[in-house]
Amino acid sequence: MSEQTGHVDTVMVEQRIFPPSQSFASRASIKSLSEYQQLYDAAAADLEGYWAAEARQHLHWFEPFQKTLQWDEPFAQWFVGGKTNASYNCLDAQIAAGRGDQVAILWEGEPGDTRTLTYRDLHCEVCKFANVLKSLGVQPGDVVSIYMPMTPELPVAMLACARIGAVHSVIFAGFSAEAVADRNNDAKAKIQLTSDGLYRRGKVLPLKDTIDEALAKSSTVEKCVVLKRAGNAVQMKNGRDIWWHEAMAQASTDCPATPLDSETPLFILYTSGSTGKPKGIRHTTAGYNLYAKRTFQMVFDHQDDDIFWCTADCGWITGHSYVVYGPLSAGAKILMYEGAPNWPEEDRFWALIEKYRVTILYTAPTAIRAFIKWGDHHVDKHDLTSLRLLGSVGEGINPEAWMWYYNKIGGGRCPIVDTWWQTETGGIMMSPLPGAIATKPGSCTKPLPGVRPRIVDEKGQDVPLGRGGMLCIDHPWPGMLRGIWGDDARYKEQYWTKIPGMYLTGDNARCDTDGYFWIMGRIDDVINVSGHRLSTIEVESALVSHPSVAEAAAVGKPDEIRGQVLSVFVTLRSGQPSDELRTALKMHVRKEIGALAQPDDIHFTSALPKTRSGKIMRRLLRDIASGKEQVGDTTTLEDYTVLAKLRSDDES
Ligand code: WT7
Repeated sequence: MSEQTGHVDTVMVEQRIFPPSQSFASRASIKSLSEYQQLYDAAAADLEGYWAAEARQHLHWFEPFQKTLQWDEPFAQWFVGGKTNASYNCLDAQIAAGRGDQVAILWEGEPGDTRTLTYRDLHCEVCKFANVLKSLGVQPGDVVSIYMPMTPELPVAMLACARIGAVHSVIFAGFSAEAVADRNNDAKAKIQLTSDGLYRRGKVLPLKDTIDEALAKSSTVEKCVVLKRAGNAVQMKNGRDIWWHEAMAQASTDCPATPLDSETPLFILYTSGSTGKPKGIRHTTAGYNLYAKRTFQMVFDHQDDDIFWCTADCGWITGHSYVVYGPLSAGAKILMYEGAPNWPEEDRFWALIEKYRVTILYTAPTAIRAFIKWGDHHVDKHDLTSLRLLGSVGEGINPEAWMWYYNKIGGGRCPIVDTWWQTETGGIMMSPLPGAIATKPGSCTKPLPGVRPRIVDEKGQDVPLGRGGMLCIDHPWPGMLRGIWGDDARYKEQYWTKIPGMYLTGDNARCDTDGYFWIMGRIDDVINVSGHRLSTIEVESALVSHPSVAEAAAVGKPDEIRGQVLSVFVTLRSGQPSDELRTALKMHVRKEIGALAQPDDIHFTSALPKTRSGKIMRRLLRDIASGKEQVGDTTTLEDYTVLAKLRSDDES
């Protein structure tokens, strides 16, 4: 029954609601629900008109565009015929607006060293590095692979590529040599950028060694530029490797931004697909830049005196859109931190917020759950009163974690923007506008103006309000991916085939009677118990609301009678694993959401398997729960020892 229709049952009811305070709303650029609604409705009535006006107002155009959208499903071109440049929008346009001497980047390294770059400083570095790239033979359209620590040179490298029409492919500096080589080969990267090493929890990771191994297998890479960061010994290969500082010493600061067609590829970013083959998500210049800028301004209600800190690494889309392109093209002051949140102590984030008077913090649920586990005393040591807004991204945030974030970090004073989006969407799609939309813990609330989400069943029909179904987007938007690098067939197949005429997100969601959206997890993760389709997040949220539980992951395990039964994995915040606790947790879930969702087995574990960006890998847990000896693809796993631990924890 529900299996064929694509419905997902909901068992979670969250009643709490938090309107923005009067003082927050009165300062905000969008101040009320009715103001949001007007904006939303006007945009929805004429999406192309809305985006055309936004583009004219918010990007610099060397040449105006002729056509707003050319849509040959599933291929979109936005702002056709126009010429702009993302590096220009982030730098030159800011200087022209009088922000040359304003701080762009406040930076702190893990060891505690600091740097401050104004927009003029950043412009100068970017121009020089763009000239370095040109001197190495980089032409428009060439791919530059970036494997670097979170130092200011990482955004400098990205913006230098953007300046001359080269395409960057940033690879998170925690990936293996194999993963780097796969990505380099898929993208046909011509130049590699790296550093000698990077600091992580007081140790030095030898990045250049990893790159040497990767480049031995990356046949298209001709040159490698190496930033000196950690001072560890490296081998420089003659004719291939160049020191960053030596190349920069001779570079001119004069490098005007190239006027680029709107649809010039800006970057490729690899995400893990369900198969092993890396999937290069392709984004282009004008539409992406506009989308990153406007979503940044609206969702974070950005104001001139804000200090914005997005804790994501530039190796992820969050770092692209909300460390670099969004904030900088809005002339913001950002904080960038190089290292781990628990070095030298578990209070490093709070120390940074206090020191730099951060006003907006944007981080991930995986980090929030770690902070909860590490204990409130780390937070209590610091003055966090500079904060006025909090954000969350990457996974659903369990209501209990939301409440902790709201009260403990935000002092009950800061709205939380729970932002739903994907690497593919380029920027935030659904989120509260913090001065306008009351929040409900666990809901990403409403779509942004210009975005039209739908929740549909297998036939593409809208499901009734309150029912779960597949989340789709029914009209192109400027920030959308333009394709998968070198694989149009896969792009079509993955996003545009199952539900004709709509972009398939791969997530399940439901919409409540207030028009609030609740993300229910990935379609592939749905658990089917006796014909009821349960979402992972609801079961996990019930578990996390128990005082002993820090994190939880729910998966289905095959069962002859019921189809699947629920198997859950939990890490504890306090207390020891015991049969009593096991029973207590089962009863707790039963009480919170009903007998249907009572787990069949509960596995206590010291850690859950996660991707390098912190998402729980339920797929591996599913294999473990069903007793498979071999689990599926583990190349994106952050910590390989977790799998072995899971198995041994399980036996005890
Ligand atoms: C998937 C996209 C968005 C940038 C970082 C991750 C999940 C993301 C939320 C949220 C519930 C969320 C979805 C989505 N997700 N944000 N606020 N609530 N789920 O980008 O690696 O491309 O992952 O992350 O499942 O599809 P990504």
